Amino acid sequence: MQEVKIGLLGCGTVGTGVYELLEKNKDIIAERTGFKPVIKKILVKNKKKGRKIPGDLLTTDPREILQDPEIEVVCELIGGEEPAKTFILEALDQGKEVVTANKAVLASYGEVIWNKVAEKDRFLGFEASVGGGIPIIKTLKDSLVGNRINSIIGIINGTTNYILTRMLEERLGFEEALKEAQAKGYAEADPTLDINGMDSAHKIAILASLAFGFFIPVKKVYVEGIESVDLLDLEFSREFGYVVKLLAFAIKKKNEVEVRVHPALIPQDHVLASIRLNYNALYVTGDFVGEILLYGLGAGKEPTASAVVGDIVDAICYRYAKGCISRVNPLTKSSNFCKIKPMEEVEFKYYFRFSAIDRPGVLAKISGILGENHISISSVVQIGRHNEGGCVPIVMITHETKEKNVRKALKQIEKLDVVTDVPKFLRIL
Ligand code: NDP
Ligand code: HSE
Repeated sequence: MQEVKIGLLGCGTVGTGVYELLEKNKDIIAERTGFKPVIKKILVKNKKKGRKIPGDLLTTDPREILQDPEIEVVCELIGGEEPAKTFILEALDQGKEVVTANKAVLASYGEVIWNKVAEKDRFLGFEASVGGGIPIIKTLKDSLVGNRINSIIGIINGTTNYILTRMLEERLGFEEALKEAQAKGYAEADPTLDINGMDSAHKIAILASLAFGFFIPVKKVYVEGIESVDLLDLEFSREFGYVVKLLAFAIKKKNEVEVRVHPALIPQDHVLASIRLNYNALYVTGDFVGEILLYGLGAGKEPTASAVVGDIVDAICYRYAKGCISRVNPLTKSSNFCKIKPMEEVEFKYYFRFSAIDRPGVLAKISGILGENHISISSVVQIGRHNEGGCVPIVMITHETKEKNVRKALKQIEKLDVVTDVPKFLRIL
């Protein structure tokens, strides 16, 4: 199988994730694509930092990657404007395909970089620059290519969404919540960029450029961060039925576009209100597709590595399989050993509703059968009581149990003389 040599510039949160993913899933990637991506060199600033990566892969000299003719795909995972911009442009000049997770460099120098990509007829993948593992770039570039995009509204910064969630749900202080987000690898090297809205601004500038077809530099984006939002605002907003989120907007109205980032109150029943922690969501409307929602982990090592590796494969296909429209074999040998789990073996929490005669001892009979079948009850409600001996609904929520236990127990309960109807059940996600 053909090996394709990859060079990583940077081995922090994202670079480490890419290394680990390519190690762990190399066989399945090779099987699906027909190519074997192999990391040849990794650029770091400090070689002495403790890492679980073979020392001979590491270098502090960018030329060992940018000028190595064997390396065909360069992944820029350093961040910031310089030296990232110089490295990306040099890699393209050297005839390499490039993948980057760097929104800051694209939002400021995207025009120069995209022009160089076109001039050199190379591939530039930047899926990881927006929304972590969410495939928003491919969705806009490929799947929605036939649409005029009317608007994109999203939560596109994992760190601030994590902070707002932890403050409201656990009453954590701002600083404590930020420390957690940093420890989990969500924050930028300089977390001020997350907090002051600039990271979201970088991302919405990229999305707006892609959606509307002309370069919108980050300096044209109106930006407010979450610095002035405190717990009291979050709590009062909740009292009024709202949730505070840091939102990014790219909206086209006639010949004008609005591109902005600021915190806003959204109604609790709005789809974006339920996006918690480091999750991101993007709500896109196109003239033919209508409304779509993309949701997933917007920051962190694994989801971002997933996006980068998707781009590495595209870069390889661009180089070697131009013109192919279906590169992935959906059937792979290594997946064939999986058996299909029978429904009886799947575990859920359950909602039960029994219709039973209102008489002492009924609940004990029902719960006795549930217990014999390894079903543990988490809560019980008996709704209404008209007259003793009449029928009442009894509702129960269970802990997790296997479907086969539930089917067996409900059959036994149905036969009880105190139960007047077929028991109802629903699975709880
Ligand atoms: P980190 O700060 O964790 O890692 C940066 C890496 O680059 C480190 O390995 C560092 O070396 C190396 N580096 C920095 N400056 C230089 C330099 N001048 N020369 C050589 N190497 C250098 O960043 P992340 O991995 O978090 O982020 C990387 C990129 O991915 C950024 O653009 C970020 O915005 C983006 N991104 C990050 C996400 C996340 O969840 N973290 C999600 C999506 C995108 P050393 O290890 O020796 O210090
Ligand atoms: N710092 C960024 C965030 C990383 O928190 O969303 C993902 O781009």
